[in-house]
Amino acid sequence: MTESLTVTDTKPKAHLPDAQIVTAVKHWTDRLFSFRVTRPQSLRFRSGEFVMIGLMGDTGKPLLRAYSIASPNWDEGLEFYSIKVPDGPLTSKLQHIKVGDEIILRPKPVGTLVHDALLPGKRIWFLATGTGLAPFASLMRDPETYEKYDQVIMMHTCREAAELEYGRQLVADLQNDELIGDMVAGKLRYYPTTTRKETAHMGRITDNLTSGKVFADLDLPQMNAAEDRAMVCGSLAFNVDVKAVLEGFGLREGANSDPQEYVVEKAFVGDGI
Ligand SMILES: Cc1cc2nc3c(=O)[nH]c(=O)nc-3n(C[C@H](O)[C@H](O)[C@H](O)COP(=O)(O)OP(=O)(O)OC[C@H]3O[C@@H](n4cnc5c(N)ncnc54)[C@H](O)[C@@H]3O)c2cc1C
Ligand SMILES: NC(=O)c1ccc[n+]([C@@H]2O[C@H](COP(=O)([O-])OP(=O)(O)OC[C@H]3O[C@@H](n4cnc5c(N)ncnc54)[C@H](OP(=O)(O)O)[C@@H]3O)[C@@H](O)[C@H]2O)c1
Repeated sequence: MTESLTVTDTKPKAHLPDAQIVTAVKHWTDRLFSFRVTRPQSLRFRSGEFVMIGLMGDTGKPLLRAYSIASPNWDEGLEFYSIKVPDGPLTSKLQHIKVGDEIILRPKPVGTLVHDALLPGKRIWFLATGTGLAPFASLMRDPETYEKYDQVIMMHTCREAAELEYGRQLVADLQNDELIGDMVAGKLRYYPTTTRKETAHMGRITDNLTSGKVFADLDLPQMNAAEDRAMVCGSLAFNVDVKAVLEGFGLREGANSDPQEYVVEKAFVGDGI
């Protein structure tokens, strides 16, 4: 007989060090999935931060990788949005997790994509490629984002439409969210684009910023240091190119210890799969 998972079943059984229990898994494409796990009661984090998660490796040592927390800090569970690297040491296994399985989660959140690292501004731009959306999935669901800014612009670019779907559904659900739906309405502007397969909006984030297309499409002034703030998360090449564009608009890079007009974090280490 197959037993269904009940709330009491989600208490970590502590077979693994820092064990948490998987409570939901959704596969979006053959390269992307998201999952939820139980949240340690003591875990406090700032939306946009990342933690180390993983599984026990074949050698008996934990195999851990950095993962942005995709859920907001008020959520009782934790959500992650993940790549599946075919021969990746962790994700070749992690992509097979099921509800009720254990993962390891080191409860020490860190990161630069936090509100504290930016000076006050009028608009905040979230700029992401691929799984770089994950920290913004957290920040877009955080009331503080809407308390701090008049407008929140989420630019997410992938090669094709199926890779945008996790973010598209998240934004659609936010408009009807009981908790912050009212705060989001009229403030969150979603600007998804693809680069390899035809969709309504096309083009790299860098090109849509430098050409002014995104400002024209959203009826916004050109980005400027007085009003605009930005957070960036993508591949190293993307981050390097976006930084140059933002600096061109007069924005300066900040950090937790030195708040300025934009902050950057790598979505992964390496050149890509
Ligand atoms: C600060 C930080 C936050 C991160 N947050 C996330 C996250 O929220 N979701 C997530 O899926 N990954 C995230 N990563 C990447 C993650 O740490 C792992 O690299 C990824 O899970 C693959 O692990 P692996 O052991 O299977 O392969 P690895 O040996 O870690 O990676 C193999 C190769 O796959 C490519 N790769 C790795 N991750 C990605 C990715 N996300 N997108 C495209 N190519 C990739 C790189 O070329 C890398 O060299 C983050 C990395 C950093 C540094
Ligand atoms: N997505 C897939 O279908 C797919 C399939 C198999 C393997 N892979 C491999 O997986 C790795 C990661 O793929 P990914 O799709 O997550 O990431 P990616 O290749 O970095 O592309 C994600 C998006 O970022 C854009 N981009 C890349 N570099 C940029 C830059 N310097 N400035 C501005 N925009 C930039 C891409 O536009 P462009 O399209 O213009 O580059 C694309 O729209 C890649 O190395 C790829 O070879 C991907």
